[in-house]
Amino acid sequence: MKRLEDMNIEGKRVIIRCDFNVPIENGIIKDDTRIVNALKTINYAIEKASKVIILSHLGRIKTEEDKQNNSLKIVCDRLSELLNKKVTFVTYDEDVNKVVNDNDLILFENVRYFDLDNKKESNEDPELSKYFASFGDIFINEGFGVSHRECASLTGISKILPSCNGFLVCNEVDNLSNLLDGYEKPYTVCMGGKKVSDKIELIDSLITKCDYMLISGLMVYTFLASKGYKTGKAFVEEDSFEYCKSLLEKYPEKIVLIKDAYVRNDGKKYRLINEIDDNDECLDIGPETIETFKSYLEKSKTIFINGPVGLFEDPEYEYGSKSLCEILKNLDSKIYAGGGETTYMFNKYGVDNAFKSTGGGATLTFLSSGTLIGIIK
Ligand code: 3PG
Repeated sequence: MKRLEDMNIEGKRVIIRCDFNVPIENGIIKDDTRIVNALKTINYAIEKASKVIILSHLGRIKTEEDKQNNSLKIVCDRLSELLNKKVTFVTYDEDVNKVVNDNDLILFENVRYFDLDNKKESNEDPELSKYFASFGDIFINEGFGVSHRECASLTGISKILPSCNGFLVCNEVDNLSNLLDGYEKPYTVCMGGKKVSDKIELIDSLITKCDYMLISGLMVYTFLASKGYKTGKAFVEEDSFEYCKSLLEKYPEKIVLIKDAYVRNDGKKYRLINEIDDNDECLDIGPETIETFKSYLEKSKTIFINGPVGLFEDPEYEYGSKSLCEILKNLDSKIYAGGGETTYMFNKYGVDNAFKSTGGGATLTFLSSGTLIGIIK
């Protein structure tokens, strides 16, 4: 991995590709972790380079309306506040070369605006890559969360300019590599989320390494249904039944499923797993599952949490996620959050003793394959 500190950027024009794809609601940034975590690289470049040009995407752009709703201007204002410096915001309809010449700290508008023209950004269009590369002499990949994508503003530029990885990307790779190699045992993985089919490669990669895999979230119902349990109104993937059955047969000691659930229905809200009824919407795990999970977590030296265990956004169904976080807060094992919702859950319930990845899909791809297309070698 090429590291920023090994590259001479003194006096150069530096392009930094960040992942400022942050959650925004009603014009307010709900979580600025991705911006905050990129500041070290940006400040380092401001000190050393002659010019700093930042690129990022925000959301997915398929229509003119998407453009209206996904401008990076709000991110520019937040970045400027955090850096305590003026950041010049550049849209593509002005004289871009002149603005780049006249200003030393620049954030460009959402690179995915170019997706409206034949998906040029997301298809790594060579002309668009050249256009972006023309703004600088050196390229720094600081967008860990998008490093699993081949796109003009990342892999495209890195094929043209001398390139390296920023501090955030190196920190992510260094930390997440601990989950693939050299980890302390016992090693426990908590898998949540909705679909088994989205996580087959990840499960296949981690199941051979971990000592225990605790399965919850919505995906556990596909495992339970594959064993013949009733799962009420829970989403299940019949296409994944064979996969689940073979995994359970191959790793009976490693895989731990839930024991009980809190459900939404017209009557009783708590069920043991064998009591689930057709009208139950299973939304959280119950105390027996928490006690079981606790017994594995307390003896683990390495823990990876991927996805919340229940619908914690709804206070009626936050018991499992909250209790899991309470257990984790009191452990001195190495704990890793697999991005997105897990990080949000950790932040909500105050789990500070964990490495929180800024990646979602990128983190899962890294843990499935051991590398990412965008990481500069
Ligand atoms: C993410 O939030 O996972 C990254 O920013 C990548 O976004 P994408 O899935 O739209 O490419």
